Amino acid sequence: MENTIIWESPSNIALIKYWGKMGVQLPCNPSLSMSLKESVSRFELTYSPKKAGEPDLIYAFEGKENKAFEKKLSKFIAAVSNDVPCVTKYQLKISSSNTFPHSAGIASSASAMSALALCLCSMQEAIDEMEMPKDFFLKKASEMARLGSGSASRSLFGEYVIWGDLEGLSNSSNYFAIPYEKTIHPIFENLQDTILMIDSSPKKVSSTAGHELMNDHPYADARFKQARQNMADLIDVLANGDFNRFIQIVENEALSLHALMMSSNPSYTLFKPNTLIAIERIKDFRNKTGLPIAFTLDAGPNIHLLYPKAEEKLVQSFIKQEIVELLEDGVYIQDGMGNGPKRIK
Ligand code: DP6
Repeated sequence: MENTIIWESPSNIALIKYWGKMGVQLPCNPSLSMSLKESVSRFELTYSPKKAGEPDLIYAFEGKENKAFEKKLSKFIAAVSNDVPCVTKYQLKISSSNTFPHSAGIASSASAMSALALCLCSMQEAIDEMEMPKDFFLKKASEMARLGSGSASRSLFGEYVIWGDLEGLSNSSNYFAIPYEKTIHPIFENLQDTILMIDSSPKKVSSTAGHELMNDHPYADARFKQARQNMADLIDVLANGDFNRFIQIVENEALSLHALMMSSNPSYTLFKPNTLIAIERIKDFRNKTGLPIAFTLDAGPNIHLLYPKAEEKLVQSFIKQEIVELLEDGVYIQDGMGNGPKRIK
């Protein structure tokens, strides 16, 4: 007997960054992200009773063996086996694919770990022949995804999402993310995200190693305080629609993240020269036109340009005229706010 479950789950882009962790994958400050629409991972999980002498897990990425990622998934599955005990009794065949180019610098661990957490929760339901209440199911999947990758905890929900204990938000938690349910001004609904591909080569320093460097970082305390202040300010801004203030907060978060890398011991830079040139051009364009566009960065050289849907045409022509020449193979990805994961089967 074989059974198959398929989930698609999105990547997300953090506006308030998670950088620094404590305990078992718990964040040192709350973070807030926007879930993407087009950049998703699709996970197909087929399970059958374990047979002696056969491997516990067989994994393929886009049809090809990938032993390095298989090992990461094995570790993740072992870490969540208390939450979904069924994994100890079945052989798992997993195949996955991404809608975005491989190593495009889009957080693939967030979409992958959240999609797999969802598949495993659905498998547990099927084996137990019961359905968990939806809120409980997503909370459980978010908590599991967090163990695979912190930012993955936020990919379980659509639109804006908060992960981490936040004063004044009683259901917020360091253990799982929650959908952002406070007031959102129309200007921030359906925000667009154009991902400018400056460089897709693998990072020299992983995010996990970067988080670790926060442990004895001289600016750690100031950073966690700054993130809390930026979060409080962003919550006001999301309600009142002040896009200029939004730009200040979101860009301060992105540049602070990279400043922390540059001032770590050992120090490192993930910026590329073209990242800085593009940032200068974005600022000049914004000063000239007064258009509401903000940029943010992940732990990498690529830029996420955020702007309201109404400005799409003008921003696209700016990208074509002034930015494309700075991009690797001229590639940029058109994305925007999405509604969260989808069960396909
Ligand atoms: C800069 O979630 O990738 O994107 O928990 O070690 O897997 P691990 O790290 P990860 O860190 C993401 C860092 C960030 C900011 C963010 O997404 O909040």
